Amino acid sequence: MRKASITHLEEMDYSGVEALNTICSNLIFSGRDLKKIVITSCTAGEGKSFLTMHIAQNLAQRGNRVILVDADLRRSFTIRRYGLETTGEWQGLAHYLAGYDDLDDVIYSTNYENLYFIPTGRDVANPVQLLDSEHFGDMLDALADHFNYVIVDAPPVGLVIDAAEIAKACDGTVLVIEYNKTRRRDIIEAQKQITNAGCPVLGCIINKVTFDSLSAKKYYNRSYYSHYNNEYYRRDSGKKSSKKDKAR
Ligand SMILES: Nc1ncnc2c1ncn2[C@@H]1O[C@H](COP(=O)(O)OP(=O)(O)OP(=O)(O)O)[C@@H](O)[C@H]1O
Ligand SMILES: [Mg+2]
Repeated sequence: MRKASITHLEEMDYSGVEALNTICSNLIFSGRDLKKIVITSCTAGEGKSFLTMHIAQNLAQRGNRVILVDADLRRSFTIRRYGLETTGEWQGLAHYLAGYDDLDDVIYSTNYENLYFIPTGRDVANPVQLLDSEHFGDMLDALADHFNYVIVDAPPVGLVIDAAEIAKACDGTVLVIEYNKTRRRDIIEAQKQITNAGCPVLGCIINKVTFDSLSAKKYYNRSYYSHYNNEYYRRDSGKKSSKKDKAR
């Protein structure tokens, strides 16, 4: 198997990491039949590739064998963006779907344990023909036999038909929504397109939420953590007192 090194993984802040852990736990508990997951959004730049890489890496860190498939065949920046390095020329999805390479030749192991990667290989002017072929579905099925999760990075569903074609071959879709940007009617339209393709929408990730916008005061001081202010949990009470103690 060929090797690739990820030399630069964008960092997330603390709240981002917490949210990512929750997202990945939810995916894991969505059922064992959920293996092929496509990540898309309504418009460009909402954070699909960023989240795809982080979700794949998080699932791999938990001991799952994960393969990230870069299926944005029109304009992928993954290799440059994550400083991916390999020896020789990159071979990828486009090469495999066009019949130039075998599947084994386009799978790269990475320097992250359990994380594997299929790059796009090269940009393609009209990828629908490739993605619509039975080879794409067969390829994802073959990958699902060898990996616990197949995470697919797709182009935006609202702009090109590719994402719906990809969704046809997947078990579930995660829709990325940029906070305060994506319009409601675009989200509804995207959901329609994906479900018409026969793929359930597992859920949405509201991305690029700034901490201020969440109103930290409401989140931390009131309902969510209010029970930690309960006297049973106070450090200075020595140990957590029982209701019996309190009644004395
Ligand atoms: N949660 C996040 N925290 C910090 N930066 C983010 C986050 N999500 C996305 N970004 C940044 O936003 C920019 C766009 O993200 P990304 O390229 O992943 O979007 P995309 O949906 O894949 O775009 P495209 O439609 O062009 O493929 C990148 O610079 C990325 O680093
Ligand atoms: Mg992208």
